[in-house]
Amino acid sequence: MVSKTVLITGCSSGIGLALAVKLAQDKQRRFKASLMKKNFLKHEILFTLGYKDKEKLEAAAGPALHKTLEIKQLDVCDEKSIHNCINSIPQRHIDILINNAGVGLIGPIECQSIEEMKGIMETNFFGVVRMIKEVLPDMKKRKSGHIVVISSVMGLQGIVFNDIYTASKFAIEGFCESLVIQALKFNIFVSLIEPGPVVTEFEMKVYEDAEKADYSQTDPETAEIFTNIYLKNSKAIFSSLGQTPEDIAEHTLKVIMTAKPPFRHQTNAIYTPMTALKHADPTGALMTDSFYKMVFRYDTLLHISLKAIRLIRWQAHKMRQGARLLGFR
Ligand SMILES: NC(=O)c1ccc[n+]([C@@H]2O[C@H](COP(=O)([O-])OP(=O)(O)OC[C@H]3O[C@@H](n4cnc5c(N)ncnc54)[C@H](OP(=O)(O)O)[C@@H]3O)[C@@H](O)[C@H]2O)c1
Repeated sequence: MVSKTVLITGCSSGIGLALAVKLAQDKQRRFKASLMKKNFLKHEILFTLGYKDKEKLEAAAGPALHKTLEIKQLDVCDEKSIHNCINSIPQRHIDILINNAGVGLIGPIECQSIEEMKGIMETNFFGVVRMIKEVLPDMKKRKSGHIVVISSVMGLQGIVFNDIYTASKFAIEGFCESLVIQALKFNIFVSLIEPGPVVTEFEMKVYEDAEKADYSQTDPETAEIFTNIYLKNSKAIFSSLGQTPEDIAEHTLKVIMTAKPPFRHQTNAIYTPMTALKHADPTGALMTDSFYKMVFRYDTLLHISLKAIRLIRWQAHKMRQGARLLGFR
């Protein structure tokens, strides 16, 4: 039996943790089912990489630990740690590399140091580049492989007060858009998964940092816009439109199981029109005008719509629970 080795970065929480557990525990059912249909044979070993905290992943993996799931230490900002980790994998053979590790940063740029900004680029952009540089030569030799990057809708569309995080995701999108053509020549697929908001520790970490930050470096009006408009809107958006890490794991699973994986995959259909605005008007006026009005003019309307969406989602959730109780899937 041919086995597939999947390597996921950043599995101590959030999407990486959910994905690692899903792949490791799904082995008996879905992967066997897809064995015949899609020429995608079962995952024999999944290598998943935590950064600091492996206890949570060990606990969540349960009996899959050391059977379909191995946890290894890896820092995407440290070339030596990447090299050692890949060398510890038999024949350095990785079929699917999932670049998930990432960090966030929000706030007025006047309050962020260049060092902090470089830290974001180091992880979200160079971290992925380092990983790809390490595995690409082996994939090329074997003429097979799949490189997946957990990007974001912010890799396609800038969002106010997310300037540096957005830049890091745009950078990786541009990098992959260039690489994908060369990779295809070697039968290597590249896929960008583009979630909207996902309720994970990521969001908590950026809010905690934002609450502790010193806004004296910016003018009072900007500080007021950030704390009283942006943070308020952002929290409402996460609670109304946010997906779960398990939702993103399910989308990623579908992408890696596709015989010809897509280059781009958005996980939240509500965001698709937003990311299409710039393509509808190459001058950028439609996009800037729409976002300006949404943030500064119609934020009451935005909150009413978000409340309505929350209510619809809650009702849909209740209906699904009811259907399950009645024995429907
Ligand atoms: N949450 C969202 O709304 C959202 C939306 C779109 C895209 N994304 C993307 O999804 C990915 C996962 O985010 P998440 O929401 O699941 O956040 P999360 O819960 O904070 O998980 C991020 C993971 O990356 C790891 N990590 C950070 N720096 C690392 C490094 N230098 N080397 C190795 N691992 C490192 C973290 O480990 P430690 O905790 O041990 O540092 C953690 O396991 C990120 O790329 C993020 O940009 C998130």
